[in-house]
Parts: sequence; C-alpha cells; structure tokens
Amino acid sequence: MKNRFHNNPPLRYGMVGGGESSQIGDSHRVALNRDSYYRLVAGAFDLNQERGQKFGISLGLEPDRIYSDYKEMATKENFRDDKIQVVGIMTPNNTHYPIAKTFIEAGINVILEKPITTNSADAYDLIKLSRKKEVLCASMYGYSGYPMVRQAKAMVNAGEIGKIRVIQTEFAHGNCALAVENHSEGAAWRNDPKTSGDSFVLADVGTHALHLATFITGQKVMEVSADRQSFVEGRVLEDNAHVLLRFDKGASGFLWASGVAVGHRHGLAIRVFGSKGGISWVQERPNQLTFSKLGHTPLTLELDSPELHPQAKRLLRVGAGHPEGYFEAFSNIYSDFAEILLAKLNRETPDQLCLDLPTLEDGARGVEFLNACVKSSDNNGRWIKTESIF
Ligand SMILES: NC(=O)c1ccc[n+]([C@@H]2O[C@H](COP(=O)([O-])OP(=O)(O)OC[C@H]3O[C@@H](n4cnc5c(N)ncnc54)[C@H](O)[C@@H]3O)[C@@H](O)[C@H]2O)c1
Repeated sequence: MKNRFHNNPPLRYGMVGGGESSQIGDSHRVALNRDSYYRLVAGAFDLNQERGQKFGISLGLEPDRIYSDYKEMATKENFRDDKIQVVGIMTPNNTHYPIAKTFIEAGINVILEKPITTNSADAYDLIKLSRKKEVLCASMYGYSGYPMVRQAKAMVNAGEIGKIRVIQTEFAHGNCALAVENHSEGAAWRNDPKTSGDSFVLADVGTHALHLATFITGQKVMEVSADRQSFVEGRVLEDNAHVLLRFDKGASGFLWASGVAVGHRHGLAIRVFGSKGGISWVQERPNQLTFSKLGHTPLTLELDSPELHPQAKRLLRVGAGHPEGYFEAFSNIYSDFAEILLAKLNRETPDQLCLDLPTLEDGARGVEFLNACVKSSDNNGRWIKTESIF
C-alpha cells in the first residue's frame, strides 16, 4: 500500500458520530489519515452538541463546519463549493438508516458502520437509493482489510483448498460477562432494542464473523438455525448465540457470537475446510495464516511468504516481522474506497485489487442474517431461510 498523496489529501471527508468518548471514532480517524487520501473537514460528532463542538475544535476543524446534527451538516455542506465528498457514519445502529439516507440523497459517498440498519427494508432502500444517486457506499467490515484475510480469500478463489465443505467462524469475547450496560453509554445502547435493533451480540460482533465467512469463501448463507441466550441478569437481548449455517454452494457452517466468553479477549477467528486442505486465522495473531494441505505438514504463512497472492502482498506497509494489525486493516478499507472513488471521479478504471471492498449489499446480508437468526431462535431453532434478494 503506497501513500501517494502525502500532505495533500484529495478527498474531503465528514464524520457523523465518533465523538471523543466513542469506541470506534478514533479507528476511523486513524484509517482516514493513514494513507493521506482524506482530509477531515466537517463533523457532527456527538449527541451532546457542546461536547461535539469542543471535540471538533480539538481536531482542528473550522468552527462553522462543526454541526449540531447530521441534518444541518448535510444541508449546509450541500451549499458549499468545497462540500464533503465522503461521510463516515458511526452512530448507534438505529440511526444509521436516516443518517445514511440523508447523505446519499445529497449525493455524498458513504462509509457506514455495521449493522447497516436494524431491518432489511431499510437496508434495501439504502441500496436502491445509492444506485439511483450513483454514490459509492461501503459497510465498515474492517476485519476484511487484514492482509491474511485477503490471502485466505485469494487462496479459496485459486482452488488451493478445494471445494469448501465446512466453515466455522466466531467472534466471542468476555467483555460483557457483567452488567456493563449499567455504567457505559456504549454498552447501554447496545443492550436496548430501541437503539440496537432486535439483537445484541449477533448484531454487534456476529455480523463481523458472518462477513469474514462469506468474504473469504464467496458463499452466501441461505438458512440458519439459531439459539440465543441472555445470561446476565436483566439483559433483554442475547449475550451469547450459537448458529448453524447452510451456505448456497453446499458448505455447512457454524457461527458463535458472544459477550460472555470469559477469558477470550477480542475472540475473532475463522476456520475453513475444503476437499484439498484447510485454513485458519485468528485475529489476535493477524499476520499468520495456517494452511494445512491434505497429506502435508501444516504451514504457517507469514506476510513475506512466497505463497502470498498479490491481494495480500500489496497491503504490506513495512517489512514483514513488524507487527501490523488492526489500524492498518481499517486503513486498507478506507484506502481501497478512496482508490475506487478517485477512479470514478477521474473517469478511470480502478485497480482491480482494490475491489474487495465490503459493500452495502454485504451489509444488507448481515441484516438479513440477523432477522433470520432472531426468527429461528424465537421458534426453538427452526431452520429459517434468509431473504437474500441481492
Ligand atoms: N467496525 C467495527 O469494528 C466496529 C467497532 C465498534 C463499533 N462499531 C459500530 O459503530 C457504531 C458506533 O459504535 P461505538 O461503539 O463507537 O458507539 P459509542 O456509543 O461508543 O459512540 C457513539 C458516538 O456517536 C455519537 N452519536 C450518537 N448519536 C448521534 C447522532 N444522531 N448524531 C451524531 N452523533 C451521534 C455519540 O455521542 C458518540 O460520540 C455502531 O453501529 C457499532 O456497531 C463498529
């Protein structure tokens, strides 16, 4: 990944949410600054206007471009010759739809946090609108930006593990083993159906595990059988879920999402088994991919291994052995988004290696998956088909 713009970023960027105390705002700011594609020039950072204003000033923004809310931001930006070209939306789940819709309608390209909406009708509406307005949108499945995840996808595409038979994916951490929602704003909205939607951990972390599975294997989930539990007293939404998966090209799968897996830190991992071999990746050791070829001793691929495909090699920023990781993965998504957008603005063809971007359609599949899981779990684990209209 090359930093080709240095101190002269070509794209004007605005942020909705991501205030000073937010969990994910800083990751987006690091990502947008990493390769000098974007300049943060506008924002409605916080529900608390005073806090948002102070924070915007601390980030070096002009006071007249720190807005009290997203509606004012979209309206006022739209009147400017130098209006933002991209907006990043990182607010609680229930607000994604109205905010994204407002900016798409204004013709502004969108990077939207997951789950992209709390119901599939809203997700489909955003897709239709973005196609009509010809704006570029991405769902922020940041983990698909890791080089070894791109390597895993390239290996599957190249047939290196054969026909995929089994997919096991999990995002199971232990950070919500106690009632953290009683003293954390971020945990409180995640555990309230009005703000989170019908799910807690499946929406919050399970959608990432799902996306990794579908991104790497190219298979879509067609049917689920889910079992959700709320272990912590007083919790309305699930803090643990086990889901059996049936994929469209014949693979069988399992997804585990949890907030009560005590002892697990971040807990994101995936294993894929095919007719010729298996691969396994654990996010806490992101620069190693285990490849077990049938009849051979397992190999650990590293960032400088000769077996790496160009999709992974291009993402190496420093010499292998240096610990690259989470922030770079986020940056890779932002930088691919910028490359595609710049190609579009300049009427050029984007580099094909940039096109592995998580799309709004991927986001919609996450929402369809959540709907199916909730329905299945409410019906004692009955197999439920996902809608999958895209
Ligand atoms: N991709 C990832 O890895 C990842 C990780 C964490 C969170 N997320 C997603 O990002 C979103 C935000 O999560 P978070 O953990 O940062 O939440 P948070 O509660 O920590 O922060 C939310 C921020 O948005 C602000 N806000 C809320 N409503 C707003 C509005 N209408 N207008 C402007 N600002 C508003 C809040 O004041 C706060 O600053 C969620 O959808 C979550 O699922 C994604």
